[in-house]
Amino acid sequence: MRLLALETSCDETSAAIIENNAVLSNVVSSQIEIHSEYGGVVPELATREHLKNLKSVVNEALDKASCGVNDLTAVSATQGPGLPPALMVGWKAAQAFAYSIDKPLIGVNHVVAHLYSPWFSDGQKGKYLDNVEPNISLIVSGGHTVLTKVKGPLNHVIIGQTKDDAAGECFDKTAKLLGLSYPGGPEIDKLAKGGNPKAYDFARPMLNQENDDFSFSGLKTSVKYFLIKNSSLLHSKDKLPDLCASIQAAIVEVLLVKSLRAARRANSKCITISGGVARNSYLRSEFQRECRDRDIVLRIAAPDLCTDNAAMIGLLANLIYEKGGFSNNPDDDIKPNWNIN
Ligand code: KG4
Ligand code: ZN
Repeated sequence: MRLLALETSCDETSAAIIENNAVLSNVVSSQIEIHSEYGGVVPELATREHLKNLKSVVNEALDKASCGVNDLTAVSATQGPGLPPALMVGWKAAQAFAYSIDKPLIGVNHVVAHLYSPWFSDGQKGKYLDNVEPNISLIVSGGHTVLTKVKGPLNHVIIGQTKDDAAGECFDKTAKLLGLSYPGGPEIDKLAKGGNPKAYDFARPMLNQENDDFSFSGLKTSVKYFLIKNSSLLHSKDKLPDLCASIQAAIVEVLLVKSLRAARRANSKCITISGGVARNSYLRSEFQRECRDRDIVLRIAAPDLCTDNAAMIGLLANLIYEKGGFSNNPDDDIKPNWNIN
């Protein structure tokens, strides 16, 4: 079983080759520099970049895996959710390619692919673990913040999600208020290393509510009004680390407390974390400490598999292929608002 996977849902053009649940190659071409001057992803520019780069990214993935077109058993691509014109590039390319080599096409949900990405074993590079323990899974990306209960591969149910902004969006928007460049998550992570997380007390929305939902727009607003009142802080560069550390601490505390509470309620001894925000170093260390203290197994996706990549798309496609649950209908279209259940 060998498959080609494509990912073009946002601002990363990526192709991967997967063989029997293991990653042979995973090539990612990032557009961050193009979008950073606009402070966010510009859909038309993203689409043009995907069109420009997809062919060379696919060729590189095939070369790195020493894989010829005739070695492929199937083709897969992100079908949704994502930016419609950007999704269209990868999906239509995959559709045409699968048709031309007369192989099945497997449409993949991008967020579900994030969800299962922590299940690459650490030892054998890129191999999907056979034994997926029941777990509480937190997906934290630029577009999504979702808690799910997972019983096994392809067997999950949403138990909570954000009511407004996603955690990554909160990092990016508050970073913008601080005058940092896009994407703000990695900038805040870097600057926070030299700051005090208790320097400023920002809002922790819904922290004390006994449900599994999130809200991050109130935190963004509390930072906004704090900075309007204390604008002098923005003029001195040495205050930035404390501001970043305090914002980061507020976001991570909400994610941590809610995930632990969901695990306790579900009687689950395993938590997984995926998505771009799972790269955050403070989030990783806070979850590691708290899970260790509670004897909870913690699986966080490897850093290069947290942000968007085609390997996670291909791995999920491999699982779907084994289960046989895909439509392979040549008329299938993109699903920009595809939910994960
Ligand atoms: O999963 P992803 O690449 O794209 C989506 O599917 O949305 O996530 C991108 C998000 C951005 O909001 C970015 O700021 C955030 O992940 N991110 C981080 C870090 N690295 C990426 N947030 C906090 N700390 C980081 N180190
Ligand atoms: Zn993503």
